[in-house]
Amino acid sequence: MNDAGGNADVADTSSCRHITAITFASRCLPRTFALAAVFLLAACAAAPSSPEARTPIVYHAISHPDMQAHMRGLSEELLALVELTDAAAPVDEARRREVVESLDRLEAAAEQVGGRGRVTNYTAVNKYMDGFLEDVELAREFAEREPANLIPANRLVRSCLSCHQSL
Ligand code: HEC
Repeated sequence: MNDAGGNADVADTSSCRHITAITFASRCLPRTFALAAVFLLAACAAAPSSPEARTPIVYHAISHPDMQAHMRGLSEELLALVELTDAAAPVDEARRREVVESLDRLEAAAEQVGGRGRVTNYTAVNKYMDGFLEDVELAREFAEREPANLIPANRLVRSCLSCHQSL
C-alpha cells in the first residue's frame, strides 16, 4: 500500500470513529436530558421579557430601609422635575436640557430599585418598575422633540402612583 492509501485508511478510521460517536450519542443520551436542555434554553430566552410570568427568584434583595432611601431619592428628583416642567415657565433650550438631565437621574435612581428583567423581593417592583421606566423614556422622548413637549415629564407622578396603588 502506498502513502496515499495509508492516509486514506487513517481518514476512514477517524471518520468511522466520528460516526460511531454520533450514533452512540443519539442512542445513549437520555431523551429527558435533551428535553431538559431545550426547556432550559427556552426559559433563558424568555427570562428578560417576562420575569413576572415565572416563579420569582430573589436575586436583588432590597431591605426596607434601602427601599425607603431609594424612594426618598426618587421623590426629591420628581419634585425638581415638576418645578422644571411648570407650564407657566418658558421652555428654552437650558430648561429642556435640565429636564432631560432630571429624567436621566430619575431613570438611574429607579434602575437601582429594579426593572430591566431583574427580580426583587418586592412584587410591586417586579410588576411595575419596567412600566415606570418606559414612561420615563417616553417623557424624555417628548422633551427632546422639536418643539419640546414637557407635559409627559410633568405628569410622571401618575406612573409613581400606578405602582403605589398596588401596594
Ligand atoms: C415599581 C414600584 C414603585 C414605583 C414606580 C415607585 N415606588 Fe415609591 N415605593 C414603592 C415601594 C415598594 C415602597 C415601599 C413601601 C413600604 O414601605 O413597604 C415605596 C415607598 C415610597 C415612599 C415612602 C418612603 C418612606 O420613607 O417610607 C415614597 C415617598 C415614594 N415611594 C415615592 C415615590 C415616587 C415619588 C415615585 C415616582 C417618582 C415612586 N415612589 C415610584 C414602589 C414604587
